[in-house]
Amino acid sequence: MKLNKKNILLGVSGGIACYKAPEIVRGVRESGGNVTVAMTQSAMEFVKPLVFQALSERPVATSLFSLEEESRIGHIKVAETADALLVAPATANIIAKMAHGIADDFLSTAFLACSAPAFVAPAMNHHMWDNPALQSNLEILKKRNIHIIQPDSGYLACGSYGTGRMAEPSHIVSVLEDFFNLMENSDQKAKPLKNVRIMVTAGPTRERIDAVRYLSNDSSGKMGYALAEICRQLGADVILISGPTALSPPAEIETIHVKTAQEMYAAVMAKSGQAQIIIKAAAVSDFRIETPNPQKTKKSKTLTLELVKNPDILKELGRKKDKNQFLVGFAAESEDVRHYAEQKLKDKDLDLIVANNILQKDAGFDVDTNRVLLVDNNGVVDLPLMSKEAVARKIMDHILATDKCRSIIGFN
Ligand SMILES: Cc1cc2nc3c(=O)[nH]c(=O)nc-3n(C[C@H](O)[C@H](O)[C@H](O)COP(=O)(O)O)c2cc1C
Repeated sequence: MKLNKKNILLGVSGGIACYKAPEIVRGVRESGGNVTVAMTQSAMEFVKPLVFQALSERPVATSLFSLEEESRIGHIKVAETADALLVAPATANIIAKMAHGIADDFLSTAFLACSAPAFVAPAMNHHMWDNPALQSNLEILKKRNIHIIQPDSGYLACGSYGTGRMAEPSHIVSVLEDFFNLMENSDQKAKPLKNVRIMVTAGPTRERIDAVRYLSNDSSGKMGYALAEICRQLGADVILISGPTALSPPAEIETIHVKTAQEMYAAVMAKSGQAQIIIKAAAVSDFRIETPNPQKTKKSKTLTLELVKNPDILKELGRKKDKNQFLVGFAAESEDVRHYAEQKLKDKDLDLIVANNILQKDAGFDVDTNRVLLVDNNGVVDLPLMSKEAVARKIMDHILATDKCRSIIGFN
């Protein structure tokens, strides 16, 4: 259904082509859309509102000042809820009113209050069509991005021959369908991750030694935060699980703050089932102190800390992953980066691993730039040094180009 649930406000003005307007209502409804009809006084001289009410199964707006109508289909409410306004047939008179902002009846007032895309299907005698006043009014509307559905040429109702016959109802409906298809396609291109839930983890974890000391690492969280922001810009519904960082929580992104690896584990596991793409950019501590001292440990010659292994979040996610989940891990290595990345990709059943050498000065932890390898089952992409924002974009482009991701998010 091409006009799936779109609300079309159909304005019918008083020309002989009014007899074709009920066909437009049928066409929109057959295409899956809803129609609310607003008729001018003149239009009611040609067709009774009852015809439109029966076909649209909605009340018809005929008067701005009817108490009953205003409460059921107020002109502002109708204008605000419309996905598109279509005036068909559009008389020379309503076109002039639309061009000059005259609001003296329901339809012309609703038009001014409506910010949805507007379409006009003119219908009139060919002399009226050729009249410079009408043509200059159409130019005004075109400049305001109002879509003019060109009338046909041929024999007119008035018996003469020329341009001015309203386009066929089926064509008018197809113009609306094409418009919404195009909108949805371009929206999908600009926001390919719309309706996709993405979980990003970022930052370090802290493992308590005692009341004032902890074990941690140099992760700043910048890479994960940049990824969360790019995902948001691409339309995703993002959840960010962040270890302690100096960064401000990103706007419009649900952020859960955690401190320890165990808290990170719990937060990730609680939310991972909802995510289609999981990007684990956090630098989670591999070990924790088994029993942190709740007091401040007193100075002594030596101090031995007993460390135990933290849960391996990535491995657990890889184990639990279903075929509709895309899992991305990060590898911070100090030697033989590619080899360890390939091994981790396999061991943890990842779809992609982003690997960097943390010993490089301008890449990795706590700097604004990064130089990474993208490793997956198709091979290795070696990205040059760039900002973490640019790396985040490249990572997302890479993910979006994979068949698995495209099939998960339904993007062709
Ligand atoms: C029989 C008849 C047919 C008409 N057909 C048209 C027409 O096709 N196009 C048009 O612009 N005006 C047509 N008019 C003139 C309009 O009805 C008139 O300009 C009216 O004020 C339009 O009002 P509205 O724009 O509020 O509906 C026709 C008038 C009559 C009496």
